[in-house]
Amino acid sequence: MIPSLEGLPLGGFRWLEETTSTNDEASTWAEQGAADFSVVAADRQTQGRGRLNRRWITPAGCALAFSVVVRPTPGEMAFLPRFSAWAGLALCATLEQIGLRPELKWPNDVLLERRKTAGILIESNWRGDAIPALIVGIGVNVGRQSVPPADQVQYPATSVESALGKPVERWELFAGLLRAMLDWRERIGEAEFLNAWERRLAFRGEWVQVGAGLEPPRTARITGLAADGSLELISREGEPLSIQVGEVSLRPA
Ligand code: BTN
Repeated sequence: MIPSLEGLPLGGFRWLEETTSTNDEASTWAEQGAADFSVVAADRQTQGRGRLNRRWITPAGCALAFSVVVRPTPGEMAFLPRFSAWAGLALCATLEQIGLRPELKWPNDVLLERRKTAGILIESNWRGDAIPALIVGIGVNVGRQSVPPADQVQYPATSVESALGKPVERWELFAGLLRAMLDWRERIGEAEFLNAWERRLAFRGEWVQVGAGLEPPRTARITGLAADGSLELISREGEPLSIQVGEVSLRPA
């Protein structure tokens, strides 16, 4: 066990020097009966993946790459879409504690100085109408070396170290993030959760280009969040738009 994680109420913990993707590891573990809030982390991923079938690069020794098996309680089932922001919000709270000003690019990218610092990929194994487990995969660029070259990323990227201007203790950050995830999970159904997410929403009140599925991208201004976590916007023509969590790419106009 990584020393800084001792005492945290994890369902289980696995550490791997190298794996394809921690989401694959967590999914297999979930099938085998992993308890709620079991965590699998790796130093290096060889086939890390992101949203929209993108690649996620995790070099050894400088990043956080881990996945959490979440078994939603009956009470949490009504708030499933909020889990998309949950880890991002927890990371924002953790980064704020070390003096940074992170933002959440909807639905769940964490930005520092308007550059992507962390990404979150949620997958689930559906069984009929029931969801036995959500796999919440989180990748954080901690050290400068974790940031991929500019020609290998879709969106400008940075690291926690670059934004802070000094090295960051990776395991302290990991423990703080897991603690914040446990903490924010308790409030996932409360108005406070939605307010905290909305307060940190990147580009709120600004014009963005938003592409969803096969539709041509539209230019619209972000107005806020609906109770189900949908992003609310208004088009140049004054038409209200609402985007559900899903296949969406968003960037400044
Ligand atoms: C994104 O920004 O598109 C999401 C990136 C998610 C990356 C994390 S790293 C840990 C977990 N394992 C993966 O293969 N992906 C997620």
